[in-house]
Amino acid sequence: MNSCAVSRSEPRRSFLPAALLGALLAWVSLPAATQPLMPLPAEIQVSAGRLAITRDFKVALPGAADPRLTENLVLWLRRVEERTGLSFARQANATYVAGTATDASLVVECGAASATLPVLGEDESYQLEITPARALLRAPTTLGVLRGYATLLQLLQSDAQGWFLPAATIDDRPRFPWRGLMLDVCRHWQPLEVVKRNIDGMALVKLNVLHLHLTEDQGFRIESRKFPRLHELGSDGHYFTQDQMREIIAYAAARGIRVVPEFDIPGHATSWVTAYPELGSAPGPYVIERKWGVFDPVLDPTNEKVYELLDGFLGEMAALFPDAYIHIGGDENNGVHWTANAKIQAFIARHELKDNAGIHAYFNGRVHAMLAKYGKKMIGWDEILHPSLPAGSVVHSWRGPEGIAEATKLNFATVLSNGYYIDLNYPTTDHYLNDPVPPGTKLTPEQQQLVLGGEATMWAEWVTPETIDSRIWPRTAAIAERLWSPQNVRDVPDMYRRLAIVSQRLEETGLNHVRYLDPALRRLAGDNATAADLAALRTFVDFVEPVKHYQRGQQQPDANQFTPLTGLVDCARADSASGREFAAAVDRFLANPRDGAARAALDSILTGWRDQSAYLLAALPHLNPQLGESIPVLQAWAQAAAVGLEASAALAGTGTTAAPAVVDKIVKPHAAVELPIRAALTRLLSVRPHN
Ligand code: ACM
Repeated sequence: MNSCAVSRSEPRRSFLPAALLGALLAWVSLPAATQPLMPLPAEIQVSAGRLAITRDFKVALPGAADPRLTENLVLWLRRVEERTGLSFARQANATYVAGTATDASLVVECGAASATLPVLGEDESYQLEITPARALLRAPTTLGVLRGYATLLQLLQSDAQGWFLPAATIDDRPRFPWRGLMLDVCRHWQPLEVVKRNIDGMALVKLNVLHLHLTEDQGFRIESRKFPRLHELGSDGHYFTQDQMREIIAYAAARGIRVVPEFDIPGHATSWVTAYPELGSAPGPYVIERKWGVFDPVLDPTNEKVYELLDGFLGEMAALFPDAYIHIGGDENNGVHWTANAKIQAFIARHELKDNAGIHAYFNGRVHAMLAKYGKKMIGWDEILHPSLPAGSVVHSWRGPEGIAEATKLNFATVLSNGYYIDLNYPTTDHYLNDPVPPGTKLTPEQQQLVLGGEATMWAEWVTPETIDSRIWPRTAAIAERLWSPQNVRDVPDMYRRLAIVSQRLEETGLNHVRYLDPALRRLAGDNATAADLAALRTFVDFVEPVKHYQRGQQQPDANQFTPLTGLVDCARADSASGREFAAAVDRFLANPRDGAARAALDSILTGWRDQSAYLLAALPHLNPQLGESIPVLQAWAQAAAVGLEASAALAGTGTTAAPAVVDKIVKPHAAVELPIRAALTRLLSVRPHN
């Protein structure tokens, strides 16, 4: 059993033999959950005492040499300085004064330098021993030390006596070796600085794979020197040059993060055939797709020129991207152009490929052979799974929970993204409890070995560089914990408590998932807004949530790549804390409707809604006309307040309650936002008052 799941109070004195005492200490240690860490370590024992952080803080690095150890340490020290306001001693050349064996507050011992580029399955373990005298960080590899730095940065905390690291022993290692974030830089272009700041966020929560989705119907986002028409005609000028990509790869590697590129073929290929219409399965011509959805353009798998181009392009990309894996996409090929093409159907018959799935598998086999020739392994989405898929390919599961079982049954390694679609605006809990190998799994031990981990997927139909961080973070930190920490770390309230803290740490790394809102709200409010208007608007956008799943596309069917993403829904964020507070207040009240304090707390929320919605409805005429779209939402909010207050009064003894059916009407989304109150308001209205 992992000690982090155990909650006991203070360590006790004992006369037991030392070995037994050690085992017992694991049982009596303070709960790991009290520490502001995400992901939680595999094993942690916190004891009484602290290592005070003062301006005399110095670090000694007596172990193996690797420039990344010092570079990341300097970054660490600077972040500690920024948080604490302390200035650590520097030499005349501005570098930090190194500690010695006797005066260092932190000693870092790295067993051996990792290779410059991280590889799948590398040892990322580390141990931390923090006493009032010093902290000792030991790891067999550079990567382990980097993971330990991330833990130390999160452990740093303060109280009335100042800044400190709690005395603790940590023995930590990841549960899964593949812990990723996928960035779609195609639907909406995401430039270099977006990628870099997200790499910094990933490093803080120990994610180790950046999957870049580089080609799509809506954009071809990587420079090809062999086939420059691809990025020149397929990207509106928004693509990564090869030098920029090398910069990204180096930036990620310096933080112990692999970069896996995705070139989505044969479908999702409009930008490819915009450049080379002769490679498509329909006559063309083609233009870059501007809308969202699944489209027909697809490479022609019977055309040898397709394989000539792919061989040249993949060879070029294999040299650019050092990782062992190349992702070939393979998803959502709807087959429309294949079915309509007599030549392709004749090819299927002649080669006994059976159907479109058969010729897709034939195509994948040829791509696999090219990648193998360039020393690369192939990964692709669920749809590449086929009886003829070459051994050693990795299946990236996105369509449903059964994907992992189906792939591993056929002996393929897998990465899970189903349940980690952060673009769909589900609450953190849903992602957090979604486990690649859940408790009670039916996978055999051999199948479980094939589950490499998972990836959060940030599809970019509805995000710009301004808003993307707010869709990724902080929820992705909870996914990072799922992929790193032991399976039994599943306490949802504790996760939310720690998530709020790690969210602040994430912004300190350079992300803007909270602060983007200030200028966005001022723009949304308009120049006539008063401070009170802005405050009311913030309360409103903090409360509402973007609609979930693929509903935004249904609500805004005319949206395309040029639609500004600056509206109410773009200021709203998934997993509203005020929605969760309302639910907690309802449950506390329902537990005892005669409890005056519980009723007062609930009524205070509901009267707040009533007053805020009335205020904003009155203010709208002098605010940004764009806010007119929020009128039905504000009216629904006012109605929710009214029926909620009625119910609270009725349950406390006076009046009647509206029927729960009214909730359906109140929560109906408008302007692509919804009120996060369905379950709790239904619970409140479902209890009938006894008169
Ligand atoms: C996907 O979401 N089409 C992989």
